[in-house]
Amino acid sequence: MHKFSRASLLKALIPGLVLSLNLVGCKDPNANKTGGDPGTGAATTAAAQDTSGDTIKVGQYASLTGETSTFGVESNAGLTFAIDELNAAGGIDVGGKKMKVEVETQDDQSKADEAKTVAVKFASDAKVVAVIGEVASSRSKTAAPEFQRAGIPMISPSSTNPEVTKVGDFIFRVCFIDPFQGFVMAKFASEELKLKKVAIMRDPSQDYSVGLADVFKEEFAKMGGAIAVDVSYNAKDSDFRSQLGQIKAAGADGIFIPGYYNEVGTIARQAKELGIEVPLMGGDGWDSEKLVEGAGGPGKALEGAYFSTHYSKDSKEQKVQDFVKAFSAKNGKAPASLVAQGYDAMMILADAIKRAGSTERKKVRDALAQTKDYEAVTGKITIDADRNATKSAVVLQIKGAEFAYVKTIAPN
Ligand code: PHE
Repeated sequence: MHKFSRASLLKALIPGLVLSLNLVGCKDPNANKTGGDPGTGAATTAAAQDTSGDTIKVGQYASLTGETSTFGVESNAGLTFAIDELNAAGGIDVGGKKMKVEVETQDDQSKADEAKTVAVKFASDAKVVAVIGEVASSRSKTAAPEFQRAGIPMISPSSTNPEVTKVGDFIFRVCFIDPFQGFVMAKFASEELKLKKVAIMRDPSQDYSVGLADVFKEEFAKMGGAIAVDVSYNAKDSDFRSQLGQIKAAGADGIFIPGYYNEVGTIARQAKELGIEVPLMGGDGWDSEKLVEGAGGPGKALEGAYFSTHYSKDSKEQKVQDFVKAFSAKNGKAPASLVAQGYDAMMILADAIKRAGSTERKKVRDALAQTKDYEAVTGKITIDADRNATKSAVVLQIKGAEFAYVKTIAPN
């Protein structure tokens, strides 16, 4: 289906990436053509792990193209930056032997069924020690059963839907979950913005959107707020005027849109056209360098809107400042939130392999589960009994082309 080969597409999207890392292996550039080969949809039998060889092979599946491509491109940039750093230091110390990291990246084109296809492929690769992915919850949830079946640890940098890690004991994430994120935005709407009657716009096709909408609704009600109206949209639609008309008629004093950046930009533009001036709010799915552009550019439809996310590059923490400086020097721009999440996911895996003193999947899994007070760029990470990370969230406000830091909200 693609006109480009995977290698040329990757090079075009992320200049320098594939070429700069000689250990980044896409051994067969055409291995993952759209559509998949017949039979790849079925689960494979877990292959015995092959721990011979001098490198640590990490798999990554990400949305490098498609609907939410900035998610995959950014988390990949963070993962690549982490691997460069690890390899520049000689590799990861595995029981006294330094081993370099090699990554194979598969593009799932922002599609859940494609995420499953590439997961099946990784699951039958005896060399893969662990897999990093996906950003979006629906894709992580669809792929996770394959890694669980194969006994390969999977770490999502940023999928926040609670169901993802419930798939099994090999499935981890290094981010907070939506029951917390929904609480954060309900609290912000209620206490900071003093809103009383908020409308919700949700995308029923995304687990993330549904989960976050539900939690917001529940938490906002607990805080004494009312829901003006709760409407659904389809991410593929380009006309959201009828839903926005309902919201206007219901007299909402704010709109919570737990969607992804593409449709949020269009929704915001159409809201302005309809004369809706109330605050717009969202979650981490807004966190993309393409968000403001989609809303008509800086100072336009999303000016002043708020969203919750994982990290702010403006944090005063030394660890964050060092990371921002090093990444910017190499990449010519400051790292977005998902860059930091991708970096942290890889560094936490490296830390677990080191503590395990082994590349055996089960031992790496056990070490990951014991991660405690790890000083990550996006905060201190302890993996809890459900393999989730308990961390603070930040609220940012859109000001021009920038996401300005507003507040940090810590979990109780
Ligand atoms: N939390 C979102 C999900 O679960 C993904 C996401 C994370 C998007 C961070 C942007 C930034 O689908």
